[in-house]
Parts: sequence; C-alpha cells; structure tokens
Amino acid sequence: MRYHGYIVPSIAIKTPSASYDVTIGSGLLRTLSTRLKKLNPTKPYRPFIITSPEIWKLWSKAVLASFPKEGPGKPVVLLHPAGESHKRMAAVEALAQQLALAGADRDALLLAFGGGVIGDITGFLAAIYMRGVRYVQLPSTLLAQVDSSIGGKTGVNLLAGKNLIGSFNHPQAVFADTDLLRTLPPDQLRAGLQESIKAGIIYDARLFAYLEKNVTTILTKKPSPQKEKALTHVVAASVRVKADVVNQDEKELGLRMILNFGHTLGHAIEAATNYKQILHGEAVAWGSIAALHVAVARGTITQPQADRMTRLILAYGPLTPFKASAAKLVELTYSDKKNRSGKRAYVLPISIGATQVIFDITDTELHAAAEAMLSRMRDSVNN
Ligand SMILES: NC(=O)c1ccc[n+]([C@@H]2O[C@H](COP(=O)([O-])OP(=O)(O)OC[C@H]3O[C@@H](n4cnc5c(N)ncnc54)[C@H](O)[C@@H]3O)[C@@H](O)[C@H]2O)c1
Ligand SMILES: [Zn+2]
Repeated sequence: MRYHGYIVPSIAIKTPSASYDVTIGSGLLRTLSTRLKKLNPTKPYRPFIITSPEIWKLWSKAVLASFPKEGPGKPVVLLHPAGESHKRMAAVEALAQQLALAGADRDALLLAFGGGVIGDITGFLAAIYMRGVRYVQLPSTLLAQVDSSIGGKTGVNLLAGKNLIGSFNHPQAVFADTDLLRTLPPDQLRAGLQESIKAGIIYDARLFAYLEKNVTTILTKKPSPQKEKALTHVVAASVRVKADVVNQDEKELGLRMILNFGHTLGHAIEAATNYKQILHGEAVAWGSIAALHVAVARGTITQPQADRMTRLILAYGPLTPFKASAAKLVELTYSDKKNRSGKRAYVLPISIGATQVIFDITDTELHAAAEAMLSRMRDSVNN
C-alpha cells in the first residue's frame, strides 16, 4: 500500500559550530540525490553509503532510486554488522580501510544510513577520515530520527564504557524518511517513543498531551495514513525539542543536560544488563519512572502529576523487565559520563514540560527511587 506522505517544514540546527536542516517526512530517500546536490552546489562529492546488511536488504532500492546507475555519481556501499557490540574503534578502522581501498578522498560524502549505531560510527569516521570529510545522516530507527542523528555527538564504545571515544561533529543535513519506520520491529519503535515521551516531559507539554491522546493510533500494528501522520507529528515535535535545546547549549554546559532525564538510572540499567537484554529507550523509561519518584519525594511535582507521566510511559510499553538490585544500580551511577567532579547531575521535572537539574542527589534518594521502580516492575509483571 502507498500513502501520499507528508513532509513537515525543515527544522534548523544553529549552533556556534554548525548550521543545517533536519528534514522529516515520507519519500525523502527517493529524492536523495537531488537533495545532496542542493547541499553541495559547487563542491564535487562522491557518495559512500555506510549501512548494515539487514537495512540494506530492505531499503536499497529506495536509496539508490535517485542516483545514476553507473559512473562517479553511483554510490559506493560499505556494509557494517548491526548491533551495539560492533560500535567499536575496530569498526572505524575497518570502514576507513574500505574507504581508502574504494578510492575515497577529501571529496567523499559519507551517508550514515541506519540506526544510532551506524550514525554514531559514521559521524566519528567522517570527523577523522583524512582529517574530516562531509557526512549526512539518514536515520532509519525512531530513536535515531528523534534523538541520535541530531546534535553532533558521534563516537564509539570502549570495553570500559559506552561512548567513551568520540567527537562533536555535525552532519551537513539530516533526512529522516518516516517510511523507514514501517519495517522497524515494534519493540524498537516503542523504545524510540520513550525518548519522545521524555522530550514531552522535559520540554513540551503539547507533545506530551499528543502522545497521551494518540496511543492507540501510534501503536496499532496495521499501517494507516492516520498512524503515519501521527508518527510524523511525533518525530517532528521531538526533533524540535532536541533542536531547541542543542541550539542553546551545543556542548552540554547547562541546558542540554535536561535531555538526560531518566538516563542516570537508565544507563545503570543498561550496564547492569550488559547492554543486551534491554533496549536503550526501555532503560530510559524505567529510569524515568524512578526519577519521578525522586521528584515527588522532593516535592518538585505532585503525586497525580507523577502518576500521569508514569501512565504515559507504561502505555507505550510493555517494558522488558530485568533483574538488578537497587544497590547495584546506585553503584553503577557513579561511572556515568555526565558526572562532573564526582557530582551526579540529575534531572527532575517541575511540571509536565519543564525541568530542573540538581547536583545534590544522594545515594539514599536514588536507592529509594530504584526500589520504587523495581516494585512497579514487579507489579507490571504480575498483572
Ligand atoms: N549521538 C547521540 O546523540 C546519541 C543519542 C542517543 C543514542 N545514541 C546511540 O544510538 C545507539 C542506539 O541506536 P538505535 O536504537 O537506533 O539502535 P541500532 O542502530 O542498533 O538499530 C537497532 C536495530 O534496528 C535495525 N534497523 C534499523 N533501521 C531499521 C529499519 N528501518 N527497519 C528494520 N530494522 C531496522 C538495525 O539493524 C538494528 O538491528 C546507541 O549506540 C546509542 O549510544 C546516540
Ligand atoms: Zn537516550
């Protein structure tokens, strides 16, 4: 079935180091070549697509549709295995080697076609290959469309921890083709939606209300124009939140920290489950439920407000349960990259759509919040 899709007005990223547009809508891939030409009217480029075999199998036709079938304009395709375990320096080196063998020079234009893993690797590769080449983000998961493709953070994992090597490196543009979400596994879609719920909680009460009102439309398995329209709306609203925050604080010196709502215990949950069992968005959802407990205990929001937010998070579930003690989770929050001089930055809502960052969160508060969240998890498993 084909729908006549929607393209929403572009959203501008404007920071001291970069200025580019995020374009969101249906059918963008099919006109990609023209879009790239518009971005680079005078400087020649050779396109190199970096993607993983699963995504390429599903979407190569659409991506290649607008490019010449032969000659220098025909993209070179480099495949990299999917999955967080492959987001490593070894991947960067292997892809750089492939680029060199394929004759990529300073005119290379890398196209990061995939989820956050491909996007983060490719952005970092573009920062260092021949001391920097151009790249464009073509995010294919909901998480990548609403979050990871925007804001210029790129990098890879070390065994010692996630995202410990990387650079700030913005793309020339982001084209988020919402058609791609049709083939996304439902759990990946739901996990990505948790980042949109986060955006609503921290910054945008209207997005929060929209997500509340449209749960059924958005989660229905059956494709429909209503579902596509709602998802496009959610992607655009979430991107606007991220763009607004990044535009004010590119390097995370202040405001950008609010994007880490739910992430303190979220990252701890991911570490406790070896980054395997729980999707990032799900871990953030559990972390958010815990943070809401802290917020009520501190009196920054009321219990009914917290209940409303928790209800929305769970409405976009089911969230995968996990096994970890509250004590272990608290211990793991000490290795969070967001900590400054041993102090943990912690984000608390002060209403729906507004937040504050505190630096005096105690182990006792976090422990109580983790216990409350684990008890909520037991309830959800038993029901
Ligand atoms: N740079 C940032 O600011 C930032 C922000 C948040 C997260 N991240 C990073 O993003 C990564 C997670 O990204 P993710 O959730 O997109 O996971 P992912 O890139 O691992 O993709 C998830 C899975 O979905 C598959 N897939 C992708 N697109 C598909 C499609 N259209 N149809 C069917 N299958 C598809 C992939 O092959 C993969 O198996 C983490 O490494 C995280 O650190 C970065
Ligand atoms: Zn996140």
